[in-house]
Amino acid sequence: MNGLHTSIIGRAMEKGLLSIDATDIRDFAENKHNRVDDYPYGGGAGMVMQPGPVYRAFQAVTKDCEKKPRCIYLTPQGRVFDQRMAEEFAKEEELIFLCGHYEGIDERVLEMIVTDPVSIGDYVLTGGELPAMVMIDTISRLVPGVLNNEESAGQESHQGHLLEYPQYTRPDVFEGREVPAVLLSGHHKNIETWRRQQSLLRTRAMRPDMFEQVELTKADRKFLDSLTDEQGE
Ligand code: ADE
Repeated sequence: MNGLHTSIIGRAMEKGLLSIDATDIRDFAENKHNRVDDYPYGGGAGMVMQPGPVYRAFQAVTKDCEKKPRCIYLTPQGRVFDQRMAEEFAKEEELIFLCGHYEGIDERVLEMIVTDPVSIGDYVLTGGELPAMVMIDTISRLVPGVLNNEESAGQESHQGHLLEYPQYTRPDVFEGREVPAVLLSGHHKNIETWRRQQSLLRTRAMRPDMFEQVELTKADRKFLDSLTDEQGE
Protein backbone atom coordinates (compact mmCIF):
# COMPACT_ATOMS: atom_id res chain seq x y z
CA MET A 1 0.00 0.00 0.00
CA ASN A 2 2.59 2.49 -1.11
CA GLY A 3 1.35 6.01 -0.93
CA LEU A 4 -0.42 5.54 2.37
CA HIS A 5 2.79 5.56 4.40
CA THR A 6 3.30 9.30 4.28
CA SER A 7 1.92 12.26 6.19
CA ILE A 8 -1.14 11.85 8.39
CA ILE A 9 -1.97 8.21 7.63
CA GLY A 10 1.70 7.21 7.88
CA ARG A 11 1.94 8.85 11.31
CA ALA A 12 -1.25 7.10 12.44
CA MET A 13 0.21 3.74 11.40
CA GLU A 14 3.44 4.47 13.30
CA LYS A 15 1.37 5.37 16.36
CA GLY A 16 -0.43 2.04 16.04
CA LEU A 17 -3.84 3.67 15.54
CA LEU A 18 -4.39 1.66 12.38
CA SER A 19 -2.66 -0.96 10.29
CA ILE A 20 -2.97 -1.60 6.60
CA ASP A 21 -1.83 -4.78 4.91
CA ALA A 22 -1.86 -5.66 1.22
CA THR A 23 -2.38 -9.21 0.01
CA ASP A 24 -1.55 -10.27 -3.54
CA ILE A 25 -4.30 -12.53 -4.85
CA ARG A 26 -1.77 -14.00 -7.29
CA ASP A 27 -0.04 -15.65 -4.33
CA PHE A 28 -3.16 -17.84 -4.12
CA ALA A 29 -3.04 -19.07 -7.69
CA GLU A 30 -2.49 -22.80 -8.09
CA ASN A 31 -0.56 -22.81 -11.33
CA LYS A 32 3.03 -22.25 -12.40
CA HIS A 33 2.60 -18.74 -13.74
CA ASN A 34 0.40 -17.49 -10.89
CA ARG A 35 -2.44 -16.77 -13.31
CA VAL A 36 -5.68 -15.76 -11.67
CA ASP A 37 -7.75 -14.76 -14.73
CA ASP A 38 -9.40 -16.63 -17.57
CA TYR A 39 -11.71 -16.05 -20.54
CA PRO A 40 -15.33 -15.14 -19.81
CA TYR A 41 -17.92 -17.89 -20.27
CA GLY A 42 -20.28 -16.78 -23.02
CA GLY A 43 -17.54 -14.87 -24.80
CA GLY A 44 -16.80 -11.16 -24.90
CA ALA A 45 -13.80 -8.93 -24.43
CA GLY A 46 -11.38 -9.02 -21.53
CA MET A 47 -10.54 -11.47 -18.82
CA VAL A 48 -12.32 -12.41 -15.62
CA MET A 49 -10.69 -13.13 -12.25
CA GLN A 50 -11.28 -16.71 -11.18
CA PRO A 51 -13.16 -17.40 -7.95
CA GLY A 52 -10.62 -19.80 -6.42
CA PRO A 53 -7.67 -17.47 -5.78
CA VAL A 54 -9.97 -14.68 -4.56
CA TYR A 55 -11.72 -17.04 -2.15
CA ARG A 56 -8.49 -18.52 -0.81
CA ALA A 57 -6.97 -15.05 -0.34
CA PHE A 58 -10.09 -13.97 1.59
CA GLN A 59 -9.98 -17.07 3.81
CA ALA A 60 -6.28 -16.51 4.54
CA VAL A 61 -6.73 -12.83 5.40
CA THR A 62 -9.75 -13.41 7.66
CA LYS A 63 -8.73 -16.67 9.34
CA ASP A 64 -7.83 -15.03 12.68
CA CYS A 65 -10.80 -12.64 12.75
CA GLU A 66 -13.30 -13.18 15.57
CA LYS A 67 -16.19 -12.20 13.35
CA LYS A 68 -16.11 -12.01 9.55
CA PRO A 69 -15.18 -8.45 8.65
CA ARG A 70 -17.17 -6.44 6.11
CA CYS A 71 -15.73 -6.96 2.65
CA ILE A 72 -15.84 -3.91 0.39
CA TYR A 73 -15.64 -4.67 -3.33
CA LEU A 74 -14.43 -1.71 -5.40
CA THR A 75 -16.55 -1.57 -8.51
CA PRO A 76 -18.22 1.10 -10.69
CA GLN A 77 -21.43 -0.89 -10.07
CA GLY A 78 -21.40 -0.25 -6.33
CA ARG A 79 -23.13 2.31 -4.14
CA VAL A 80 -21.39 5.67 -4.51
CA PHE A 81 -19.01 6.41 -1.62
CA ASP A 82 -19.70 9.47 0.50
CA GLN A 83 -18.79 10.92 3.91
CA ARG A 84 -21.71 9.19 5.60
CA MET A 85 -20.55 5.79 4.38
CA ALA A 86 -17.03 6.63 5.55
CA GLU A 87 -18.41 7.31 9.05
CA GLU A 88 -20.16 3.94 9.06
CA PHE A 89 -17.02 2.07 7.96
CA ALA A 90 -14.87 3.96 10.48
CA LYS A 91 -16.80 2.21 13.30
CA GLU A 92 -15.59 -1.22 12.14
CA GLU A 93 -12.62 -2.90 13.78
CA GLU A 94 -11.55 -4.53 10.52
CA LEU A 95 -12.33 -4.03 6.84
CA ILE A 96 -11.39 -5.98 3.73
CA PHE A 97 -11.00 -4.13 0.42
CA LEU A 98 -11.29 -6.42 -2.58
CA CYS A 99 -9.72 -4.85 -5.66
CA GLY A 100 -10.63 -6.25 -9.05
CA HIS A 101 -8.81 -5.93 -12.32
CA TYR A 102 -9.60 -6.93 -15.88
CA GLU A 103 -13.31 -7.08 -16.71
CA GLY A 104 -14.28 -8.15 -13.23
CA ILE A 105 -14.41 -11.04 -10.81
CA ASP A 106 -16.40 -14.27 -11.12
CA GLU A 107 -19.83 -13.49 -9.68
CA ARG A 108 -19.98 -16.60 -7.48
CA VAL A 109 -17.14 -15.57 -5.18
CA LEU A 110 -18.54 -12.05 -4.98
CA GLU A 111 -21.83 -13.53 -3.75
CA MET A 112 -19.93 -15.51 -1.15
CA ILE A 113 -17.69 -12.85 0.40
CA VAL A 114 -18.71 -9.29 -0.55
CA THR A 115 -20.90 -7.37 1.90
CA ASP A 116 -20.49 -3.87 0.39
CA PRO A 117 -19.98 -3.15 -3.32
CA VAL A 118 -18.73 0.45 -3.47
CA SER A 119 -17.93 2.88 -6.30
CA ILE A 120 -15.96 6.09 -5.70
CA GLY A 121 -17.72 7.94 -8.51
CA ASP A 122 -19.26 7.70 -11.94
CA TYR A 123 -16.10 7.04 -13.93
CA VAL A 124 -14.14 3.87 -14.66
CA LEU A 125 -10.59 3.20 -13.44
CA THR A 126 -8.35 0.32 -14.52
CA GLY A 127 -8.46 -1.35 -11.13
CA GLY A 128 -9.73 -1.10 -7.59
CA GLU A 129 -6.45 -0.12 -5.90
CA LEU A 130 -6.77 3.64 -6.25
CA PRO A 131 -10.43 3.62 -5.20
CA ALA A 132 -9.44 1.49 -2.16
CA MET A 133 -6.77 4.02 -1.23
CA VAL A 134 -9.25 6.87 -1.56
CA MET A 135 -11.59 5.04 0.80
CA ILE A 136 -8.84 4.07 3.26
CA ASP A 137 -7.62 7.67 3.46
CA THR A 138 -11.14 9.03 4.00
CA ILE A 139 -12.04 6.42 6.62
CA SER A 140 -8.69 6.61 8.46
CA ARG A 141 -8.95 10.31 9.22
CA LEU A 142 -12.20 9.57 11.07
CA VAL A 143 -10.47 7.13 13.44
CA PRO A 144 -10.04 8.80 16.85
CA GLY A 145 -6.50 10.14 17.33
CA VAL A 146 -5.53 10.14 13.65
CA LEU A 147 -6.10 13.88 13.27
CA ASN A 148 -4.89 16.24 15.96
CA ASN A 149 -7.50 18.63 17.35
CA GLU A 150 -6.53 21.48 15.08
CA GLU A 151 -6.90 19.33 11.99
CA SER A 152 -10.17 17.78 13.04
CA ALA A 153 -11.83 21.20 13.31
CA GLY A 154 -12.00 21.28 9.52
CA GLN A 155 -13.78 17.98 9.40
CA GLU A 156 -17.28 19.36 9.25
CA SER A 157 -17.25 20.14 5.54
CA HIS A 158 -19.63 17.48 4.32
CA GLN A 159 -21.32 16.63 7.54
CA GLY A 160 -23.44 19.72 7.93
CA HIS A 161 -24.32 19.54 4.20
CA LEU A 162 -22.37 22.75 3.59
CA LEU A 163 -19.08 23.26 1.81
CA GLU A 164 -16.21 24.93 3.63
CA TYR A 165 -15.93 28.75 3.59
CA PRO A 166 -12.80 30.33 2.01
CA GLN A 167 -9.67 30.59 4.17
CA TYR A 168 -6.95 33.27 4.22
CA THR A 169 -3.60 33.68 5.94
CA ARG A 170 -0.80 36.27 5.91
CA PRO A 171 0.01 38.54 4.16
CA ASP A 172 -3.16 40.65 4.37
CA VAL A 173 -2.50 41.99 0.86
CA PHE A 174 -1.19 39.65 -1.86
CA GLU A 175 -0.55 40.95 -5.39
CA GLY A 176 -3.02 43.71 -4.67
CA ARG A 177 -5.71 41.30 -3.38
CA GLU A 178 -6.94 42.01 0.12
CA VAL A 179 -8.15 39.60 2.74
CA PRO A 180 -11.87 40.30 3.41
CA ALA A 181 -11.94 43.09 6.03
CA VAL A 182 -14.31 41.25 8.36
CA LEU A 183 -11.63 38.61 9.03
CA LEU A 184 -9.25 41.28 10.32
CA SER A 185 -11.92 42.96 12.46
CA GLY A 186 -11.62 40.65 15.47
CA HIS A 187 -15.44 40.68 15.65
CA HIS A 188 -16.14 37.00 16.19
CA LYS A 189 -19.89 37.13 15.69
CA ASN A 190 -19.51 38.93 12.35
CA ILE A 191 -16.80 36.51 11.25
CA GLU A 192 -19.02 33.55 12.05
CA THR A 193 -21.91 35.10 10.11
CA TRP A 194 -19.69 35.89 7.11
CA ARG A 195 -18.33 32.33 7.05
CA ARG A 196 -21.80 30.83 7.19
CA GLN A 197 -22.88 33.08 4.33
CA GLN A 198 -19.85 32.13 2.23
CA SER A 199 -20.56 28.45 2.85
CA LEU A 200 -24.17 28.92 1.77
CA LEU A 201 -23.16 30.72 -1.43
CA ARG A 202 -20.51 28.14 -2.30
CA THR A 203 -22.77 25.22 -1.69
CA ARG A 204 -25.61 26.74 -3.70
CA ALA A 205 -23.27 27.51 -6.62
CA MET A 206 -21.15 24.34 -6.67
CA ARG A 207 -23.45 21.70 -5.20
CA PRO A 208 -27.12 22.52 -5.70
CA ASP A 209 -27.91 18.88 -4.84
CA MET A 210 -26.33 19.31 -1.39
CA PHE A 211 -27.85 22.75 -0.94
CA GLU A 212 -31.34 21.27 -1.21
CA GLN A 213 -30.62 19.23 1.93
CA VAL A 214 -29.44 22.19 4.01
CA GLU A 215 -31.61 23.23 6.95
CA LEU A 216 -31.73 26.98 6.46
CA THR A 217 -32.11 29.21 9.51
CA LYS A 218 -34.22 32.38 9.49
CA ALA A 219 -31.01 34.40 9.21
CA ASP A 220 -29.86 32.28 6.24
CA ARG A 221 -33.12 32.93 4.42
CA LYS A 222 -32.95 36.63 5.15
CA PHE A 223 -29.42 36.78 3.76
CA LEU A 224 -30.28 34.82 0.60
CA ASP A 225 -33.43 36.89 0.04
CA SER A 226 -31.42 40.09 0.41
CA LEU A 227 -29.18 38.94 -2.46
CA THR A 228 -32.03 38.22 -4.83
CA ASP A 229 -33.60 41.59 -3.86
CA GLU A 230 -30.35 43.33 -4.85
CA GLN A 231 -30.41 41.60 -8.21
CA GLY A 232 -33.96 42.86 -8.71
CA GLU A 233 -35.48 39.38 -8.93
N1 ADE B 1 -12.99 0.21 -10.32
C1 ADE B 1 -13.00 0.82 -11.52
N2 ADE B 1 -13.66 1.96 -11.48
C2 ADE B 1 -14.08 2.13 -10.19
C3 ADE B 1 -14.82 3.13 -9.50
N3 ADE B 1 -15.27 4.23 -10.11
N4 ADE B 1 -15.04 2.97 -8.19
C4 ADE B 1 -14.60 1.86 -7.56
N5 ADE B 1 -13.92 0.88 -8.14
C5 ADE B 1 -13.65 1.00 -9.45
